[in-house]
Amino acid sequence: TGRKAMVTSGPTQEPLDPVRYMTNRSSGRQGHAIAMALAKKGANTVLVSGPTNLTDPEGVIVRRVTSAVEMLAACKQELPVDIVVCAAAVSDWRVADPAAEKMKKNGTAPNLELTENPDILATLSQSGPKRPCLVIGFAAETSSVVDNAMEKLSKKGCDWIVANDVSVAANTFGGMENTVHIVDHNGIENWPTMSKESIGQLLADRISDYLNTNS
Ligand code: C5P
Repeated sequence: TGRKAMVTSGPTQEPLDPVRYMTNRSSGRQGHAIAMALAKKGANTVLVSGPTNLTDPEGVIVRRVTSAVEMLAACKQELPVDIVVCAAAVSDWRVADPAAEKMKKNGTAPNLELTENPDILATLSQSGPKRPCLVIGFAAETSSVVDNAMEKLSKKGCDWIVANDVSVAANTFGGMENTVHIVDHNGIENWPTMSKESIGQLLADRISDYLNTNS
């Protein structure tokens, strides 16, 4: 209660031209569930979400964005926040120079040049005096889940990584359940497979305990 939380959720869409885009299979369910759980615990919660089919979680301010660049801009506008959870499946790349008009089929397939998108989690983790006191990222892995999460923790500069074992829960993308490991600088917690709502609630409890102890 009395804290401001920000959660990113959903996929991003990266335009090729005015009618086409690149995206990924994220449903937004896990991010939305976390935002709802944080709001229920009393945090002033903003959800910065890419396009999803989900209804807005109760008690949460929702900022809808489309691309990774827009998602980063919206997140920066919301700073300072106490807690940030980056659950969005941000597209790693965007088309460097999207066509202004619909591309026409003319017998030669277009050669699309891609450019890397900004890393929102890394940017927020390294945002200087405005850095949130707790920055949490996600990692979807199919092997060496914990080792990769440890590496991500230091590479991105965040405080906790929620590592999804996408090889255990084959339907993690778009599914109702998730299997996660919470990795922080003190070690690893292995959570059993449970609903994305339950993970949201347990994560909100853990965040609340951390803030009550550390700030
Ligand atoms: O590097 P990777 O995509 O595996 O990292 C996943 C984590 O980083 C997630 O928390 C995701 O929300 C975040 N991320 C981000 N911006 C990007 C890429 C990933 O915030 N451009």
